[in-house]
Amino acid sequence: MKKNQNESLENQDIEIRLLVDAIYQKYGYDFRNYSQAHVKRRILNRFNLSGMKNITDMIHESLANRKFVDQILMDLSITVTEMFRDPAFYKALREEIFPLLQSYPFIKIWHAGCSSGEEVYSMAILMKEEGLYERTQIYATDFNPVIIKQAKDGVYPLNRMKEFSVNYQKAGGKGSLSDYYTINSGDAKLLEILKKNIVFATHNLVTDSVFAEVNLVICRNVLIYFDRYLQDRVIKLFVDSLPEGGLLCLGSKENLQFSSHYHEFNPLIPKEKIYIRKYLL
Ligand SMILES: C[S@@+](CC[C@H](N)C(=O)[O-])C[C@H]1O[C@@H](n2cnc3c(N)ncnc32)[C@H](O)[C@@H]1O
Repeated sequence: MKKNQNESLENQDIEIRLLVDAIYQKYGYDFRNYSQAHVKRRILNRFNLSGMKNITDMIHESLANRKFVDQILMDLSITVTEMFRDPAFYKALREEIFPLLQSYPFIKIWHAGCSSGEEVYSMAILMKEEGLYERTQIYATDFNPVIIKQAKDGVYPLNRMKEFSVNYQKAGGKGSLSDYYTINSGDAKLLEILKKNIVFATHNLVTDSVFAEVNLVICRNVLIYFDRYLQDRVIKLFVDSLPEGGLLCLGSKENLQFSSHYHEFNPLIPKEKIYIRKYLL
């Protein structure tokens, strides 16, 4: 590659870092330890859509225009999700984890990085079917306020329900997914009874502290966007949220193996990335 080309790519990387820094300093959203490849891809995509001359223009626009920053937050947030995503994981919860929870008088669950709520309602349905929901409190958090509002509403395009139903059946669903929603102008609205024990809130895993002490943390498909340092910090947050015997569930492409907190957990169902916090003797 020619020297000039190399230099301009290097400059682009510097400008991206400055943009990320400006967003942190002005608005407190800290993407400095997200995976660099992820941040670069998403920022360049926004740059191409923006019609601006260079990334430095994006810095000026970010400092002056909150709406532009909200767009970047949305870009960096990647909110792709689905109900009963990875059905085998939910089947493992139903068949192997819930029997352990049956003896608990009260169960607290934290869905960290819950996006638009599909995985949270999946959990609520599962717990209802296993007779655990009435003594469960679910905290569902995400740093993106727009997506948390959607999660609270629990309204999804009807055309996605077919795919969600297939997942539900594969996860060992005991009825029909349509038992849990009503249809209104092309949308599926999840039943209010599912929301009864769910608290939705904004919480930033990078800048906020422990949310609550819980028995089960579900943080799936979030750590993949963080670098090793940040993954470790967030896992420490989970260590501090879980008592001995508490459970941590990660996404299919995530694991604890490289974390400095690995020794605090035992793999319980390794295939499904379910870990148990060790008992201290
Ligand atoms: C790909 S979605 C995963 C959603 C769901 N957990 C699942 O597995 O289907 C990643 C979510 O993590 C959230 N997220 C990213 N950075 C975060 C942070 N610092 N704190 C809290 N949530 C974050 C995003 O807003 C997004 O909704």
